[in-house]
Amino acid sequence: MNRTVERRCFVKLCAAAAVTAGANPALLAAEGATARLYDRTTLVDHDGVPITAQGLEVGRTYIFHYPYATTPCFLLDLGRPAPAVAGLSTEDGEPYLWPGGAGEGRSVVAFAAICAHRMSHPAREVSFINYRHGKVRYRDSGDRMREASGVIFCCSEKSVYDPAGGARVLGGPARQPLATILLQSDPESGTLSALGTVGGEMYDAFFEKFAFRLALEHETRDIERRIGAASVVMDIEEYSRTIMQC
Ligand code: FES
Repeated sequence: MNRTVERRCFVKLCAAAAVTAGANPALLAAEGATARLYDRTTLVDHDGVPITAQGLEVGRTYIFHYPYATTPCFLLDLGRPAPAVAGLSTEDGEPYLWPGGAGEGRSVVAFAAICAHRMSHPAREVSFINYRHGKVRYRDSGDRMREASGVIFCCSEKSVYDPAGGARVLGGPARQPLATILLQSDPESGTLSALGTVGGEMYDAFFEKFAFRLALEHETRDIERRIGAASVVMDIEEYSRTIMQC
């Protein structure tokens, strides 16, 4: 089965899978045209120990890979509740509901760390796209100067995203929000799992554009390998040698 066909199957399977997931608020809230289930992947530290929502540091940028071993994601504790947001849509006009933050305080969010404009992403050498917990100035979609804290800023062509609002676009040339990584937080232990995505994925184009470098960086011929049962979470400073701040 090629990947395009496989993806369509995920979409069709989503509603049924959400039912089998029982009372999984992230999945049930995200059920819709653009939600896709992948593997259930536990987020772990370097020793393979599951990390917890309450163990994350507010404002710090964490990186993990999901749903593929080469596709980076941001994991953030915003330090404030992030309620669900309706009315988001992909560049193709598919509407979807963002299920909001995970964890006890609903402040933990995850997004594909692949800019929706030209796919800048954290690489080993440099990351042009980063979370900025402190105040930054940027130009909004109407070209007005704005100031905000807690945004994801892509220094390549200055697209800005609001992670507390489903990574909707605040400014710059991006035409759709960053794809959401659906998270589940265990209510007892606080451990975090990634379950799927919702919103506009760009993985096909990402693999095509960066195939050579991804293979080198990840030392694999199979750049489309699924990450599997566990994904290691690390600070972005550990992952990328240079973090661009603009
Ligand atoms: S690649 Fe991010 S703004 Fe162009």
